Amino acid sequence: MRAVDLIAKKRDGSVLSPEEIDFLVQGYTRGEIPDYQMAPFLLAVYFQGLNDEEAFALTQSMIQSGQILDLDDLPGPTGDKHSTGGVGDKVSLVLVPLVSACGLYVAKMSGRGLEHTGGTIDKLEAIPGFRTALSKEELVAQVRKIGCAIVAQTPDLAPADGKMYALRDVTATVESLPLIASSVMSKKIACGAQNILIDVKVGRGAFMKDLESAQKLARLMVEIGKKLGRRVTCVLSPMDQPLGYAVGNALEVKEAIQALCGEGPKDLIETVCDLAGELLYLGGLANSISDGVSQAAAALRQGLAAVKFQQMIEAQGGDGRVLTELWRLPQAPLRWVIPARNCGFVQSIDALKVGLAAMSLGAGRERIEDAVDLSVGVLLAKKVGERVEMEEPIATLYVRNRERIGEAQRLLEESFVIGEKPAEKRLQILGRISSLD
Ligand code: URA
Repeated sequence: MRAVDLIAKKRDGSVLSPEEIDFLVQGYTRGEIPDYQMAPFLLAVYFQGLNDEEAFALTQSMIQSGQILDLDDLPGPTGDKHSTGGVGDKVSLVLVPLVSACGLYVAKMSGRGLEHTGGTIDKLEAIPGFRTALSKEELVAQVRKIGCAIVAQTPDLAPADGKMYALRDVTATVESLPLIASSVMSKKIACGAQNILIDVKVGRGAFMKDLESAQKLARLMVEIGKKLGRRVTCVLSPMDQPLGYAVGNALEVKEAIQALCGEGPKDLIETVCDLAGELLYLGGLANSISDGVSQAAAALRQGLAAVKFQQMIEAQGGDGRVLTELWRLPQAPLRWVIPARNCGFVQSIDALKVGLAAMSLGAGRERIEDAVDLSVGVLLAKKVGERVEMEEPIATLYVRNRERIGEAQRLLEESFVIGEKPAEKRLQILGRISSLD
């Protein structure tokens, strides 16, 4: 087999066999197939798509590029959570310790920022000393001891996804339904959990822009999970405006800590509790989704999730004092307030533009080798539905480099639509597709 023939085959719209897909995936993981061949293959998939059998074969090959964690002898049910990516999406930072405090064992492998969306691993690295690179053995030992861990992709687990994810990020090939499905599911299966919850983000700031494509992606991931013997629920949640107020790594960690301590934004808390309810139900720790939501809300209220987050930070070498001493997180040297140009009610906030504004300040990557600036980002002052007066701040930019203010301010001003009518309350959950149904 030759990679060039398989690229041409997919480019021309033919179906690849599982052996052909495996040849490409294993060859790329071993470094025998270079980026300059994998990139056009991914682009061919982006344009031509994959049928369900090809998507399943791709997922299996990516799983087989590494090992699978064995969590079966942990003393309780195992669960995992993943988001398809959003702007200001710090849900995992709150949800993982929360469900762990409710008895679910979670070994979670997360990604870095992808295009305009943030990544949990970059966010966690804003915590001084926090180690995201644990070995497989360290990961399992930590989960056994304290109940949860969040780590970056290791060379042991789904390494093909690690390499392909980084390449897709800089080759405009993220927004492909089968590539997202196989990326997410390969990571989740390799991490060994029996119960998997996926938050499929929908809207301007998400990779799935409309409900129909989000449902298609959700169905595909549930089917892949079922074939591999896992219980999977996909929840569809909106990403029209950012979740919470903070966008940018350290700013989001701060907001997540506030949520863990009972002071976070309403939309974030509501989304976290809804998702936790789903996952506790999926894992058999709750009798119904609403029972799961109540358990989660109680654990948050009682501060149990905050304690668990601190344990996780310290187990991974981080400075647990950040929970009470937020100033220990990286701070941007400059703040730049953006005033409203007119008055009225906020009708919409384009999450994509806010994500791009944060990126333009240095919160995301443009090339594989770029480092992110953990301190910079955007803190919104208003959300959809809120009243705003002329010249009142709509957001603050957290900045290192003055020269970047102009572009970020332009994007942010464009992202806000202010109008006459009070906007209605929006749903935090738009739908669900589950292997339990
Ligand atoms: N999240 C992932 O893990 N993979 C993707 O491809 C997109 C979002």
